[in-house]
Amino acid sequence: MANPRRRIPVAAIVLAAGKGTRMKTRRAKVLHEVCGRPLAYYPVKRALEVGANPVVVVVGHQGAEVEAALRTHLEGAPLRFVLQKEQLGTAHAVLAARPVLRGFSGLVLILSGDTPLLTTSALRAVIDRRGRAALRFATMTLENPTGYGRVVHAPHGGPALVVEEKDATMEERSIKEVNAGLYCAEAAFLWKTLALVGTKNVQREFYLTDLVALAAEGPGAAAVRVSPVEAAGVNDQEELSLAVRAMTRHMALAFMKSGVTLEDPERFDCDEGVTVGFDTVIEPSVRLRGATQVGSGCRIGQGSILKDALIADGVTVNPYCVVDSAAVQRGAVIGPFTRLRPGTEVGEEVHLGNFVELKKTRMGKGSKANHLTYLGDATVGEKVNVGCGTVTCNYDGEQKHPTRIGDRAFIGSDAILVAPIRIGAGAYVAAGSTLTDDVPAGALALGRARQVVKEGWVAGRASRPRGRTRVSPHRKTA
Ligand code: UD1
Ligand code: CA
Repeated sequence: MANPRRRIPVAAIVLAAGKGTRMKTRRAKVLHEVCGRPLAYYPVKRALEVGANPVVVVVGHQGAEVEAALRTHLEGAPLRFVLQKEQLGTAHAVLAARPVLRGFSGLVLILSGDTPLLTTSALRAVIDRRGRAALRFATMTLENPTGYGRVVHAPHGGPALVVEEKDATMEERSIKEVNAGLYCAEAAFLWKTLALVGTKNVQREFYLTDLVALAAEGPGAAAVRVSPVEAAGVNDQEELSLAVRAMTRHMALAFMKSGVTLEDPERFDCDEGVTVGFDTVIEPSVRLRGATQVGSGCRIGQGSILKDALIADGVTVNPYCVVDSAAVQRGAVIGPFTRLRPGTEVGEEVHLGNFVELKKTRMGKGSKANHLTYLGDATVGEKVNVGCGTVTCNYDGEQKHPTRIGDRAFIGSDAILVAPIRIGAGAYVAAGSTLTDDVPAGALALGRARQVVKEGWVAGRASRPRGRTRVSPHRKTA
């Protein structure tokens, strides 16, 4: 929990109101996603993890969407949202949170909504920093400090001020120690000092970074070094892609440590919260999205995309499958090129092959559909064989209708099953049939025209007058 040594309560403010002009998109920056969660989710989550209560999120641009996204992903957390109507700078944003924290007298942690890689250890470092400094803030050293505020130290050590790049002299710009945008301040100091911040700078904004100089002149400021890997901000598309890679690599490492084989961790995409069991092999270019859970002893084939999928132990997903909100039970083998759509449950030891699409369909243990098939709104029993090219016609243009296929039924290739329809247990459907009526258990159903063979027809064609070679449907044949 937060700071047990001193037991000072901690509240947090996460700044997420800016538009993020450098992203060059219509969407507010903090809504851009890293591993399936909006950017702002991460600093909020980390603040909650160190025990901050409440966590006040300052929103502005697309504030309603930001709030909705965070509430969905962090249900039940002690979050408060405040609106910063106009974005007049980071100090102005912090002030917007003041009404919510009235009466709070502990430490206030301030985080940027655009720093998704922050770790709880960085947060703890600024919270737990010993000494009397009323303001502690994180700094890092960057080979290329472009865009960040530079930390200027006093001749005798401690930080004297932070100067934003746009306000910096050439000499200041060469400083490589930068402000990471993570602060921890005593509440009383914070509110008193924020009132002194003005807009005397190139951008005419209220800079939160002015707190450093104000603290240095008075109750003390302390810089806490953190790693540039974890404190990197996301300001443009390139930095967004770097954050995605860094976070994915982190998750990939954790999987590998727990016994998952990743054939190429650099060609692997994964959302926060996905789980994968040991002894599972993941081939290159796999995407695991949403709340996907993969069991142990599975193989996930190259190029497969699994979203909100439940994959039990020992399942083989051959290359290029797409699974969305569907479950696959133990020992099943699907793909290549199988598509499972929402509401589908593939039973144990089921085999599904190429270009087989299932929607809202349950398939019982040991059943097979190995080629070119569509099953929608269907309930298929155990040990059923569904031949190549089978189609359930589940939609009549207005409504969806169910198809039920009993255990051990055999559906011949190219069967068209017009729903609603039931095929009884053990029944056979002849290849090429179009069925509109139920088939009782154990029966054979044929629903197609009888084959006609005209012997010698080709040779006879030469003697018939031209233009009359077609068989008229009205003429008597055979
Ligand atoms: C800021 C710091 C800079 C530091 C860098 C670290 C200031 C003035 N500068 O710069 O010293 O090196 O972060 O990442 O603080 N925001 C609001 N309301 C506003 C303005 C901003 O909520 O009125 C939010 C933004 O949505 C963003 C965060 O504050 O999430 C930081 O703003 P941004 O514009 O990215 O600041 P930087 O220029 O990166
Ligand atoms: Ca930033």
